[in-house]
Amino acid sequence: MKTKVTIIGAGMVGSTIAYSLVLQDIVDEITLVDLNTELAESQVMDLQHSVPFVGRTTINSGSYADCSESQVTVITCGAAQQPGESRLALVQRNAAILDSARFRHLLGAHLDIDNRSIHAYILGEHGDSEFPVWSGATMGNMRLLDHQALSDTDKERIFEEAKNAAYTIIEGKQSTYYAIGAGCAHLIRAIVRNRKSVLSVSHLIEGIYGVENVCLSMPVVVGRQGVVERLDVDLSKEEQELLQISAAALKAAAAEIML
Ligand SMILES: NC(=O)c1ccc[n+]([C@@H]2O[C@H](COP(=O)([O-])OP(=O)(O)OC[C@H]3O[C@@H](n4cnc5c(N)ncnc54)[C@H](O)[C@@H]3O)[C@@H](O)[C@H]2O)c1
Repeated sequence: MKTKVTIIGAGMVGSTIAYSLVLQDIVDEITLVDLNTELAESQVMDLQHSVPFVGRTTINSGSYADCSESQVTVITCGAAQQPGESRLALVQRNAAILDSARFRHLLGAHLDIDNRSIHAYILGEHGDSEFPVWSGATMGNMRLLDHQALSDTDKERIFEEAKNAAYTIIEGKQSTYYAIGAGCAHLIRAIVRNRKSVLSVSHLIEGIYGVENVCLSMPVVVGRQGVVERLDVDLSKEEQELLQISAAALKAAAAEIML
């Protein structure tokens, strides 16, 4: 079966997701849709010219109708975050793979260990009330809480750096797109190849530690049908409270835009 992804919004994020998919030869076809058709067509041409170096992906521009024949539709047409603007102000409840990846990267750099051997999540809102799950963070099967080289000050600094990275990047170059591009491509591969990967993605929470009816990021199993299994996540008492605070912040923001 042909694998097709339609990306709505051919700006920085949409085009970078497409480029990440092309470089890793993940899908057969990518369609870019943008209100600015000239932009979409130019992105398509530029991307097409990268294909001969790496794989066989077909890339074209199209319309919303293309979503109906796609395994995955990616919506990247929101307004981009401005310098100084909080992510909650932007009310985006997107995949928080980005920040967990940054967190693992910073932990790996601090401990001088391949970040693929570090298992650590940032959960909750993808924004200011997100929180690190130190209780379940491991290097191999060693708890990071017990690691001699990770003081409380290091932990605080590493989490703050991961959380604030997007602000720092936006101050310097107005937008972020490489990490989200790679993160989305990783997520799309898990879907189209039915990888059953454990990933931290935003989804409807229906009763975890007293939290329900809100979309936020928790680890789930991702396969061809999307979220195919929810995990029973072990959180400390303090982390449970942080989850509840994050859920309340998201519900309040959602209520505000419904007014
Ligand atoms: N989750 C993350 O980690 C993360 C990271 C970066 C950006 N983002 C979000 O991704 C979104 C896109 O960011 P960007 O930097 O690519 O912005 P951008 O302005 O470069 O691109 C957005 C594109 O969407 C198009 N568009 C707008 N409305 C449309 C519609 N109804 N149909 C089709 N196309 C439409 C615009 O013409 C524009 O080309 C923003 O909401 C941003 O906040 C999320």
